[in-house]
Amino acid sequence: MIMSNWKHKHILDLSKFSLDDYKTVLELTTRFQDVPTTRSRKLPALQGRLVTNLFFESSTRTRSSFELAAKRLSADVQNFSVATSSLNKGETPLDTILTYIAMGTDILIIRHESTNVPNELAHYIDKHHINTSILNAGDGFHSHPSQGLLDLFTLANFFSPTNPSPNSLSNKKITIVGDILHSRVARSNLWALTGCGADVTLCGPKSLLPDEFSDFVLRPPSGQKYDPIKNRGSIVIKRSLKDALKGSDAVMTLRLQKERMHQNMLTDLDTYHNHYGITHESLKWCEKKVPVMHPGPVNRGIEISSQILEDDSISLIKNQVSNGIPTRMSLLYLLANRNIIES
Ligand code: CP
Repeated sequence: MIMSNWKHKHILDLSKFSLDDYKTVLELTTRFQDVPTTRSRKLPALQGRLVTNLFFESSTRTRSSFELAAKRLSADVQNFSVATSSLNKGETPLDTILTYIAMGTDILIIRHESTNVPNELAHYIDKHHINTSILNAGDGFHSHPSQGLLDLFTLANFFSPTNPSPNSLSNKKITIVGDILHSRVARSNLWALTGCGADVTLCGPKSLLPDEFSDFVLRPPSGQKYDPIKNRGSIVIKRSLKDALKGSDAVMTLRLQKERMHQNMLTDLDTYHNHYGITHESLKWCEKKVPVMHPGPVNRGIEISSQILEDDSISLIKNQVSNGIPTRMSLLYLLANRNIIES
């Protein structure tokens, strides 16, 4: 298997990803897509490695597909559940995490409602010379890198089915609609899509899409000295869905994250749907047939109509779910084999 010189010990955020990193992930994901159709349906690549799924916040897709991805690479997999854990006896999250590290986990996949928990954990691990890799499965509003990468793969595969690559996204216009403010998926997609040369249009009301988002990729996280991408695509904000959809090559709509709204940020859901809902009617503003994505879970009839969800000629949502497995296989493979160059 050909790998470029992958250097990341942890995957926390896509702001540090180079064009080579995206290329490597897309290439590996393309190869891993075929694994379920092979005779053994598995690869021995992670045999003897321990992968721990540590989800402090609910998940259906991410947790299950990381589990399947690890199993398809023959890793041993542990799943942690808050409900049945010793957190209920007063153990702290850090002591819980250190318990799993003491069991010798090679890759710790973590989801937490608080921004920066995976970064702080990675910092602790490096400071204490621990070999475990941290893979962020979603922290607060901040980052959901594996979702950003599976979305990138889904789009690249749609535009270039025979050779999905960063080039497949170059100069494409991708419109992201909805609750950008509370969305770690939107933030990871902004790094990934602009990193591969796509131009992104963001659309939503000011309460869910502040003007500062147009500069999002110009502000790498604190502690990051430079942007590894020389020529990023652009980000523009449109308040009107009609203006935002005009000329789009693909549309991504996002869940209204009511659990993250600490004040009443919307007048009512019907008005929101009328202004920002993705329906067969509103998609006519694209002026051509374009695919629609949604990271899930979905609020039917709010950000997207049930008819679009069920229209397989438009919706790529099932593809996003199925592509999540080979994408996550590629991330586990790269972390487990970092610094090894094979040809
Ligand atoms: N897209 C996503 O993160 O879904 P889950 O919350 O079900 O993992």
